[in-house]
Amino acid sequence: MKIACLGGGPAGLYSAISIKLRDAAHDVTVFERNRPDDTFGWGVVFSDETFDNIAANDPTSAQAIREHFAYWDDIAVHYRGQRIVSTGHGFSGIARKTLLLLLQERARELGARLCFQTEIASAGELAREYDLVIAADGLNSKTRNEFAHAFKPAIETRKNKFVWLGTRQKFDDAFTFIFEETEHGWVWAHAYQFDADTATFIVECSESVWRKFGFATMSQDESCRICEQIFEKYLGGHRLMSNAAHLRGSAWLNFPRVLCETWSHDNVVLMGDAAATAHFSVGSGTKLAMESAISMADYLASEPTMKAAYAKYEDARRTEVLRLQSAARNSLEWFEDVERYLHLDPVQFNYSLLTRSQRISHENLRLRDRSWLEGAEAWFQRLAGAADYTVRRPMFAPFRLRDMRLKNRIVVSPMAQYKAVDGCPTDWHLVHYGERAKGGAALVCTEMTCVSPEGRITPGCTGMYGPEHEVAWKRIVDFVHAETDARICCQLGHSGAKGSTQLGWEEMDAPLKSGNWPVMAPSPVAWSERNQRARAMTRADMDRVREEFVAAAEMAARARFDMLEIHCAHGYLLSSFITPLTNWRTDEYGGSLENRMRYPLEIFHAVRAVWPAEKPISVRISANDWVGAEGIQPQDAVEISRMLQEAGVDICDVSAGQTSVRARPVYGRMFQTPFSDRIRNETGMATMAVGNIYEPDHVNSILMAGRADLVCLARPHLANPYWTLHAAAKLGDRAEAWPPPYYAGRDQLYRLAGSAEPAPSPVSEKAV
Ligand SMILES: Cc1cc2nc3c(=O)[nH]c(=O)nc-3n(C[C@H](O)[C@H](O)[C@H](O)COP(=O)(O)OP(=O)(O)OC[C@H]3O[C@@H](n4cnc5c(N)ncnc54)[C@H](O)[C@@H]3O)c2cc1C
Ligand SMILES: Cc1cc2nc3c(=O)[nH]c(=O)nc-3n(C[C@H](O)[C@H](O)[C@H](O)COP(=O)(O)O)c2cc1C
Repeated sequence: MKIACLGGGPAGLYSAISIKLRDAAHDVTVFERNRPDDTFGWGVVFSDETFDNIAANDPTSAQAIREHFAYWDDIAVHYRGQRIVSTGHGFSGIARKTLLLLLQERARELGARLCFQTEIASAGELAREYDLVIAADGLNSKTRNEFAHAFKPAIETRKNKFVWLGTRQKFDDAFTFIFEETEHGWVWAHAYQFDADTATFIVECSESVWRKFGFATMSQDESCRICEQIFEKYLGGHRLMSNAAHLRGSAWLNFPRVLCETWSHDNVVLMGDAAATAHFSVGSGTKLAMESAISMADYLASEPTMKAAYAKYEDARRTEVLRLQSAARNSLEWFEDVERYLHLDPVQFNYSLLTRSQRISHENLRLRDRSWLEGAEAWFQRLAGAADYTVRRPMFAPFRLRDMRLKNRIVVSPMAQYKAVDGCPTDWHLVHYGERAKGGAALVCTEMTCVSPEGRITPGCTGMYGPEHEVAWKRIVDFVHAETDARICCQLGHSGAKGSTQLGWEEMDAPLKSGNWPVMAPSPVAWSERNQRARAMTRADMDRVREEFVAAAEMAARARFDMLEIHCAHGYLLSSFITPLTNWRTDEYGGSLENRMRYPLEIFHAVRAVWPAEKPISVRISANDWVGAEGIQPQDAVEISRMLQEAGVDICDVSAGQTSVRARPVYGRMFQTPFSDRIRNETGMATMAVGNIYEPDHVNSILMAGRADLVCLARPHLANPYWTLHAAAKLGDRAEAWPPPYYAGRDQLYRLAGSAEPAPSPVSEKAV
């Protein structure tokens, strides 16, 4: 077969090598516009895992590459006058130029033809002469443009500015991040050694800082001189160098995130940066390029037709690319939002940086550097005011809100049980909440407990509007206080337009088959086409509902609840005031966010006035309506939280969605936690994170990175009321208190956990 590799970067050269290795009879030519040693850029980084794949594909080139590697194990972070070093990250660097020269040599040795200084004007034309064209023409791929209709590229230009520089200053003991505050704002560098006397030095900052420095109009030389001044302390008198002569102007770039919908068109196949990019902060662009080359060569050899080979290649690589792009997105967004974290203590800042891509978990960090992590855990416990703060996971740190002291950071999230009779909790609720309170969580939150019969979601919802409700709730609260050291919070709410619906396990949010009651809301909306249209609330309705909230809070106080949560999320009454999707009022309760917040804040102030001063109140919000700019977005949630904070709300319970049938949520592990992170770090308000958090590792990394103060788990607590005690046993933490009658079960669990210690997973991933 006659094969052309368009582009002599890692993707093109490694394709030539991998194809020739599998079938030397193929006639392979690499076309490269530059000279053989004319490469731009500095060093590239490989993780051990990538290197294993490369070594398995071609031990010869792998050996040659290995001989030129600079290895290092540490990551050093310079921040606020401190240098924090953690170890165990194991990765290696090589000069891009050396890598390409080695790959060129190997490709030639295997019989590929290399044509340098050959500009290819059109992959389409090349494709007429060749059976297959591998278009590995890089980030600015002309081929991608030539067949844009087929490849359908999505290109997203990211916010930050960066420039890829080099220096003779040694950074050979650690991959180094340097954060410097300048007169124009923060600028940072990613520095790593890649050969005996040169290091890559990528400088990055926000667009506004970049503008203030005037980098846009500088030559590459001028730009280097300014960066030298910024990082003078770290450069030991060495210069910063640019080798981006191929770029016009100052060589600063915005990172383009590229992903093509299809990767092949007739006999043209996209590869490497041309098909998909991964942000440089996860150091995986070369990895993706070379692993894609291996995959294409494999399928060319194994599949009966070219078409089948293209399809398999695309299928296999897309999954890998999406996985990596997701980690890369987390990482690049961390750098885009870094100013949000620049108030953090150096320990927490370092932790946040190391775990930014969410690929490195809390326990994985322990495998990398136990002593650093234990120091960080001790710091966390000390800050939390733990009596014995030696080494315990962050989830077992105490927390205090007003006079309420929590023994740890785990919260049983509110979950409707639909088992009440006329609003009255039953024995079901006593056993259900009692079990969860015994299970080790510090705080158990009740389901949405409704302030009136019409304010219920379903006929099975609990209420706090009759004297019998107060008595029944008090029985539950008394049990929790007498038999456990958990605290219990009452979530108060009103269903609004989402009321009068079926039980959760019947048809969720669907109207009752019979016996519907009229519903009201800020505006005359219907939850869905099937639900009844709500009546728009009058001032009298608003006053009445406010008084119902006050009466419910008074009952909750008499029932001795430790905390209240006002439900302003998920499309129920107060939430439907906040989101513009359901609030079309033209009075002072509609329009601006300030107006839409007015009624929920009125309720809060009225409730706060009757709720004991020493007890906290939280508010649950939907931080994202998941409908784009028409609804609440995470930046609005920051403003909402600021208003709550100013009003005196003690903690914001950051949920999302369920405010519109049009919502298109993006689910995933911990998918709502970024909203909590943003609120906590932009406003300084305490937060609870919730949503698909199910592993102790998730909880510990959220807390340690300062993304929330408390972590709510809902479904995991349905499956296992003893989630916290089990987590402690599994993690080897023996300090969480069990109910005395269960000691024998505890001891058995401890023994089993001790003997079934999971084998440590290999430390192979690059620390990004
Ligand atoms: C600041 C920065 C740091 C990075 N750090 C790392 C890192 O640490 N680790 C890592 O793995 N990756 C890193 N990368 C990414 C990495 O450089 C790329 O992902 C990788 O080089 C992609 O390989 P490629 O072969 O697809 O494209 P390229 O390496 O861009 O190669 C494409 C080649 O095609 C040639 N070409 C293009 N058009 C034509 C044409 N019409 N005719 C002839 N020739 C043509 C070009 O001259 C070029 O040589 C970094 C990138 C940046 C910007
Ligand atoms: C059965 C069930 C009932 C729920 N009822 C409520 C509720 O009454 N009030 C509330 O704010 N959230 C309620 N939720 C949402 C949860 O509190 C939580 O935010 C959501 O389930 C995501 O957390 P998870 O991934 O840990 O389950 C409920 C969730 C479930 C599964």
